[in-house]
Amino acid sequence: QTVHLSDYAPPAFLVEEVHLTFRLAPRATRVLSRICFRPNPDAAGGAFFLHGEELTLIRAAIDGAEVTPELTAAGLTCTVPDGPFTWEAEVEIAPEANTALEGLYMSRGMYCTQCEAEGFRKITYYPDRPDVMAPFTVRIEGEAPVMLSNGNPVGVGEGWAEWHDPWPKPAYLFALVAGDLVAERGSFVTRSGRTVDLAVWVRPGDEGKCAWAMEALGTSMRWDEERYGREYDLDVFNIVAVDDFNMGAMENKGLNIFNSAAVLASPETATDANFERIESIIAHEYFHNWTGNRITCRDWFQLCLKEGLTVFRDQEFTADLRSAAVKRIEDVRMLRARQFPEDQGPLAHPVRPESYQEINNFYTATVYEKGAEVIGMLKRLVGDDGYAKALDLYFDRHDGQACTIEDWLKVFEDATGRDLSQFKLWYEQAGTPRLSVEESFEGGTYTLTFTQHTPPTPGQEEKKPLVLPIALGLLSPNGDEVVPTRVLEMTEARQSFTFEGLASKPVPSILRGFSAPVVLERAADRDERAFLMAHDTDPFNKWEAGRALARESLIATVRTGAAPDAAWLEGVAAILRDESFEPAFRAQMLALPTQSELAQSLADRGETPDPDAIWGAVEGLKEALALHLADLAPALYDAMRVTGPYIPDAEQSGKRTLANAMLGLITRRDGGERAARQYAEADNMTLTLAALACLLRAGKGSPELAAFHERWQDDRLVMDKWFGLQIMEATPEAAVETARRLTGHPAFDMKNPNRFRAVLGALAGHHAGFHRADGAGYALLADWLIRLDPVNPQTAARMMTAFQTWRRYDAGRQAHARAALERIAATPGLSRDGAEMVGRMLA
Ligand code: ARG
Ligand code: ZN
Repeated sequence: QTVHLSDYAPPAFLVEEVHLTFRLAPRATRVLSRICFRPNPDAAGGAFFLHGEELTLIRAAIDGAEVTPELTAAGLTCTVPDGPFTWEAEVEIAPEANTALEGLYMSRGMYCTQCEAEGFRKITYYPDRPDVMAPFTVRIEGEAPVMLSNGNPVGVGEGWAEWHDPWPKPAYLFALVAGDLVAERGSFVTRSGRTVDLAVWVRPGDEGKCAWAMEALGTSMRWDEERYGREYDLDVFNIVAVDDFNMGAMENKGLNIFNSAAVLASPETATDANFERIESIIAHEYFHNWTGNRITCRDWFQLCLKEGLTVFRDQEFTADLRSAAVKRIEDVRMLRARQFPEDQGPLAHPVRPESYQEINNFYTATVYEKGAEVIGMLKRLVGDDGYAKALDLYFDRHDGQACTIEDWLKVFEDATGRDLSQFKLWYEQAGTPRLSVEESFEGGTYTLTFTQHTPPTPGQEEKKPLVLPIALGLLSPNGDEVVPTRVLEMTEARQSFTFEGLASKPVPSILRGFSAPVVLERAADRDERAFLMAHDTDPFNKWEAGRALARESLIATVRTGAAPDAAWLEGVAAILRDESFEPAFRAQMLALPTQSELAQSLADRGETPDPDAIWGAVEGLKEALALHLADLAPALYDAMRVTGPYIPDAEQSGKRTLANAMLGLITRRDGGERAARQYAEADNMTLTLAALACLLRAGKGSPELAAFHERWQDDRLVMDKWFGLQIMEATPEAAVETARRLTGHPAFDMKNPNRFRAVLGALAGHHAGFHRADGAGYALLADWLIRLDPVNPQTAARMMTAFQTWRRYDAGRQAHARAALERIAATPGLSRDGAEMVGRMLA
């Protein structure tokens, strides 16, 4: 059942064109296919096999003559003529019964599809692999007022619509939507002067929440022309919002389908963070048109070819539109919170995995976010010009093809003349490298000696040294930058770099901009960190120095009950007061390491983390900060007030972020008085939700919570916030009971992934609550994962990752976690998705 990269073989047959007719009905949709095949001249023969799952075959024919194929649970085989032939089939499927949300399914009366990675085989028999590409013509017959598919509209009439997509594509990019939908319309003129009709399709009633997505789409289209020279290639571009969706969104050619949470926004219902996320997901899916669709993946092991690159591109986009420094900090926070635990636990896998049982389990932070980091390193190594040349060559050479990481690296080698054979290890070797540093200074010469080491990961005991781009600057003891940023290229396990002609021993600023995704193990003293926090010219490392100080302070509290570090408190106060820093950056200075990261730091030092002690230390540090900033916080809160109409841009949202951070501190002093006022006066969700969070954390807010429910009970996305916040802001003792109570709320719906995540995902994210000593958190999550698995295996398997850190903790917690995992593993009929995940975590 395990698929291996090394087993790749080209398809035996290629597809020339595909004609599909859908006769839509909730319980019995008929799908008629007419597919022109020809033998693949580049394949070594092989049988004719079509994937197909959960299909009822009504009839099949080859070149017009009825055939009786041999059916299995995975597909069919059939004897076929030598040379080209036409395959026809009619199958029946039941979209209404499809709760897995993969293939053709229904979401509140709307037909929609999700085919990546292997959902098309649940729609009809087909070679469902990304290296088989073909143009599609689709006819949809049904009663829905709006019926959409990929490509350009060909015709529409009473009860039917036809679409044609001229660009050859793999089946995973197929999409169909039908339902009662309304459009927010727009248009875009490409740089070569073609007009593209844009539409964001939503349920009637949601029209008022599309403007932001439409604006982001236009911005994305222009950006890709200007920054990458990529122009759009169809007459229309449609986006549809769907309430039940397993992931964020999907880049189907010309017909992107979005989780409604990733597209709908209004100031009253969405926060600034929601707006920013929507902007970046719209961009991400749009950018896939070139990095993913025009150039796709040969097989699913190459997933990072499109995802790592497209994430990197959407990160650049946000950095250009907003603040590059703040975006980098946000991305690294995310990487550390989500990718590092994966890379350092039982689920570790290379950016390009070598085997899988269920590919849906590999849409991971490693493939996406570490995949993007690898591209960032490549760009740093070859420089902006080298990168631009390589990308031009990539689009030129591989347009219309299904490619590999080897193809990708080759364009960089050809465009820049560099040998990337060692760099390729980043795609092959799992695990987070550890980088340690020694320094010496003698006679004006400063020497830095780095040592790199990657701990073993499952299936990979031995690790080789990687190419590490280490961006470095040196500061003089009085705070001047004596060596501006340069990139040291480390290729050995241990390697020294020297700097000459220095008047005094400098202070190093290492890994500026987080130039490589490693754990820097530098036992710097707190004076050096405080110095960098005050003087570093690199905004990322300035932030990083503060972060390290806070981390060490928290760890000292956990270990010895030490009081919060005054150097950190003072350093934060100084930056908060400094108006030369943008508000969003100042707010980032308050972002502490997550409690899970602190647990990992302790585990790295050979200690067993105690979640309750970590919780207590964080609370203590926040209390100390609230006290230390008792005067500054209210002043800054007032200074950050935004007047005039709401705009979710970097400037306004930065101010609101900082004001809300101050409100958190103020609430620790005034017991919630200011927060209650903000809640009462707020006219946008960013202020409303922050005020409610402060109140709940202070053990208050019941009337506000009830009022919020009353006001928003008919808005699903807002209600997801209502569900999630109560758990996120609960105490460690109350988190599990709150989650349990909310699963009994009439509006809790396990079948809706957003609602399931709002409750159970929030519990999994509550470090001290989930890792409760008596195992109640583990048990509750396991109960629900066991219930969800048969209904929606993808979403259930994804949330099983909550257990990936279980071996960090004490014997008692480990026993409870193991019991929960074994209970999941023993569930009769457990899905392939779930079985693979628990199997890896128990191994
Ligand atoms: N390609 C989509 C994106 O990156 C993700 C879709 C993944 N879906 C899945 N079921 N694995 O935006
Ligand atoms: Zn993507």
